[in-house]
Amino acid sequence: MASPTSQEFEFTEKDFKYIQWFLHKTVGIFLSDQKRTMVYGRISRQLRALRLRSFQEYQQLIESDNDVRVNFINSLTTNKTHFFREFHHFEFFEKIMLGEWQHTEKKRIRIWSAGCSTGEEPYSFVASLCKEGVLNWCEDLEITASDLDTNVLKQAAMGEYPIEALGSIPKEYLKPCFLKGVGSKQGKIKFASTFQRLIKFKQINLLEPWPFNEKFDLICCRNVMIYFDRPTQAKLIQRFHQQLNPKGVLFIGHSETIGECADLFHNLGNTIYVKQ
Ligand SMILES: C[S@@+](CC[C@H](N)C(=O)[O-])C[C@H]1O[C@@H](n2cnc3c(N)ncnc32)[C@H](O)[C@@H]1O
Repeated sequence: MASPTSQEFEFTEKDFKYIQWFLHKTVGIFLSDQKRTMVYGRISRQLRALRLRSFQEYQQLIESDNDVRVNFINSLTTNKTHFFREFHHFEFFEKIMLGEWQHTEKKRIRIWSAGCSTGEEPYSFVASLCKEGVLNWCEDLEITASDLDTNVLKQAAMGEYPIEALGSIPKEYLKPCFLKGVGSKQGKIKFASTFQRLIKFKQINLLEPWPFNEKFDLICCRNVMIYFDRPTQAKLIQRFHQQLNPKGVLFIGHSETIGECADLFHNLGNTIYVKQ
């Protein structure tokens, strides 16, 4: 790390501890000590944009100004994602879940992509539903896609991606959902608005109360809990369990576990859990 004298802003150990504490308290994200340089880089950008000269001034604004607080949190989230990430979940969704729902003529399908980042995850579910022809037999179908970060949600709602994103979309999912941009949208792909309407984007901090009055058949919360500590993960998994319909399914990320909540679910392997 650069020595304090070569830094544009003074950033003491106490300042870093404050950020660690504040982020953990408000959104559950645990920043390890190794993230100090990254944090300094991202916070400096905020200080420059606000024309502040010291971290102390910034700290006061974080406490008192909602917009500053939101930008502060947005700047420290990790939003990496791509279409059809962890493809085995989509295989299970299509072959097992959709197969059973069609067989039982399920009338209403509710899916929650919790921590959806820029939207590739919920759009992948819609493309999967289209490919399997689910819209032909189920009319009441809704995907809630939520994230804490307001910037990624804005991008998600637009449904536009660089053309390179095509690299992670298997070709059988392209039609009818993904459209190639023309004119000013050259070099981009756009998710077709006819199907985009199936997704409701919402800003939700997973640690706070959730604004739902119905339960879900599938909750997909992948690569989000990895940033939380154990007690926060356990509380969240218990809440997901309560928010699922009977036999509802929970997908989590490849490096996450449900730990001490194992008795609430049947573990089907491959980070797929069915509500007991
Ligand atoms: C790495 S992305 C995962 C995206 C997608 N689920 C995937 O697996 O590709 C993690 C997302 O979790 C969101 N997140 C982090 N803490 C959160 C919280 N307390 N409430 C809601 N979302 C949160 C971040 O803003 C980020 O967009």
